[in-house]
Amino acid sequence: MASNWNPDSWKSAQAKHLPDYADAEALSRVEATLTNFPPLVFAGEARALKADLAEVAEGRGFLLQGGDCAESFAEFHPDNIRDTFRVLLQMAVVLTFASKQPVVKVGRMAGQFAKPRSAQTETINGQELPSYFGDIINGPEFEPETRRNNPDRMIQAYSQSASTLNLLRAFSTGGYANLRQVHKWTLDHIGRSPWAAKFSETADRIGEALDFMQACGIDPMTVPQLQGTSFFTSHEALLLPYEQALTRRDSLTGDWYDCSAHMLWIGDRTRFDDSAHVEFLRGVGNPIGMKCGPSLEPDALLRMLDVLNPAREAGRMTLISRFGHDKVEAGLPPLVRAVEREGHKVVWSCDPMHGNVIKAASGYKTRPFERILAEVRGFFAVHRAEGTHAGGVHIEMTGQNVTECTGGAIAITDEALADRYHTHCDPRLNAAQSLELAFLLAEMLNLEAQDRAKAAA
Ligand code: PEP
Ligand code: CO
Repeated sequence: MASNWNPDSWKSAQAKHLPDYADAEALSRVEATLTNFPPLVFAGEARALKADLAEVAEGRGFLLQGGDCAESFAEFHPDNIRDTFRVLLQMAVVLTFASKQPVVKVGRMAGQFAKPRSAQTETINGQELPSYFGDIINGPEFEPETRRNNPDRMIQAYSQSASTLNLLRAFSTGGYANLRQVHKWTLDHIGRSPWAAKFSETADRIGEALDFMQACGIDPMTVPQLQGTSFFTSHEALLLPYEQALTRRDSLTGDWYDCSAHMLWIGDRTRFDDSAHVEFLRGVGNPIGMKCGPSLEPDALLRMLDVLNPAREAGRMTLISRFGHDKVEAGLPPLVRAVEREGHKVVWSCDPMHGNVIKAASGYKTRPFERILAEVRGFFAVHRAEGTHAGGVHIEMTGQNVTECTGGAIAITDEALADRYHTHCDPRLNAAQSLELAFLLAEMLNLEAQDRAKAAA
């Protein structure tokens, strides 16, 4: 267990991107309420995820992490949860089938509410108001009352997270994720994509494999791994009063866990020496992610790893690089080399979203799909050259038929962005674009597997 740590020791470190609450009493009341609420996840589940990630760190598996940039109260609907979940399942099937390796599935779901913003205020028609910091902090409507930081929102975020997680648990173990259903996961609105047809082929082959197993006397209905799947949750641990309130001592081991999600990550803006966010996360036993952007120096990364993972436990750290399509090939190798040199076992994951935001001519914030693919290709090329495992991908996506990122096989043009631009924060891949990305990842993983087979021969 971390020394000199307790759930509120972050309060004496340097906090960036934390909201001020005008009413301190209201904040304390909410914190006390949340402290008495049940944890959302159990420490043993976080340890199970850590064990899965330890396998990925050893090169045996791939991490698929995805979901909304920001979940919202307005878009809270069972269909949205189901559709995002099933696109993640589809992607996982494509990746598992291609790589013949386990895919660890982690949603940016059931708690991904708080957002760091580059600008603290927003001005429209001469009126200046605080920026929107995510539904757990304030509201998106440009009105003084909605933009006020309101601690009561944490209670609603908790409740939405609890019911989202409940539905995800039901889907993943209650029959929906049964591999016999694989054909049914395709969403109607992606039928026009050539990748939907390709997915259907994969689904046919999986069906044949299941038939074959059945003919050999293995009844897929009695094999738990084929009937359901494991699915974990994650979010950026940004709003520390909320995270602290859900931090509990595990009754089995006596260790502290942040029970708001299985995995928590530190954003690119809150990872620095003496950061309150680093201080908080160093003391909880969950698997931890850390965003690694262009401003991160190798020495600073090594210092973070020493603080966050002094025991050098495999599966504890996932490093999520987010350089941008044109910077990844120069920026990532020095970090990979430093980590290798020091012998840290980490999962390397690629976030091809946050370094590739542009403003379209139409004024919308977007991400060109070809740049997203280019960053993924660059990430794999670096790991291939360094002899390390390209271990995962971290994406902002949704099962909805949105038009937020340009490009893809059903090409979304700059002009079409206005059609269904629903995000409350960053632009997400839609279902068809997510599936297309999965096939590119599958191709890259195949190349990696061929390299490995050659090396072993
Ligand atoms: C995010 O993942 O939504 C995010 C804000 O990313 P980053 O910290 O990498 O900018
Ligand atoms: Co984002």
